[in-house]
Amino acid sequence: MINVENQIELVNIQKNYGTHVVLSNCDLCVRNGEFVVVVGRSGSGKSTLLNLIGGLEQPTDGTIKVSGNSLTNLNEEELSKLRRQKLGFIFQFFNLIPTLTALENIRLPMALNRINKKETIERALSLLEEFGLSGFDQRFPEELSGGEQQRVAIARALAHKPDIILADEPTGNLDLDTANEVLELLNRTCRQRGTTLIMATHSKEVIGLADRVFSIHGSDLNEAIM
Ligand SMILES: Nc1ncnc2c1ncn2[C@@H]1O[C@H](COP(=O)(O)OP(=O)(O)O)[C@@H](O)[C@H]1O
Ligand SMILES: [Mg+2]
Repeated sequence: MINVENQIELVNIQKNYGTHVVLSNCDLCVRNGEFVVVVGRSGSGKSTLLNLIGGLEQPTDGTIKVSGNSLTNLNEEELSKLRRQKLGFIFQFFNLIPTLTALENIRLPMALNRINKKETIERALSLLEEFGLSGFDQRFPEELSGGEQQRVAIARALAHKPDIILADEPTGNLDLDTANEVLELLNRTCRQRGTTLIMATHSKEVIGLADRVFSIHGSDLNEAIM
């Protein structure tokens, strides 16, 4: 299965916390532009898997490649550069910065990538418009509903044009209708841009949208037959 076209490659991954084996002998290959879902009960290791791919956690054993970079060979600075440039993160509790407006939140990852101010404002406003949030640019997170906050968070994750979006239960804190809207938005925008989307979720609705579904049982990661 392993070949150069894979954008993400996990080979023989083991992840322990102390004596607790969370993942063992796990392999995962994801191609450019795929939408891959990871399911599993609470505590099964979904966030751990996403954090390994995002370079936020180191595996106990095994190798991880992201966009041609072997994560274990990168130092902290190189890892942080890879995260900043190639990855976008979306979380269950939105994680917007409360003291920044919607516009400023979306501008942040672009500013970190030294994109010039005028362009960051233009791109942020255009994403707000695309996501049905025109006129919300000066609002602070607490002035937005959960669904609106998550749409801002998706705009923030996409603003610097990452190759890969890692979404950790992005609809876990939303009601069903809002969750479905957010899922469709994520699916549509990633497909239009050719952005790879890896999502941990409990949502059954997502399964029809994804290209492939993986499930964590015990310390095993298996592809579900759809
Ligand atoms: N930093 C950590 N230290 C110790 N144990 C952890 C740590 N992070 C996660 N775990 C444990 O690893 C297991 C998997 O956690 P997690 O990946 O968060 O599961 P999920 O996202 O599927 O709910 C859980 O048993 C959790 O308690
Ligand atoms: Mg989790």
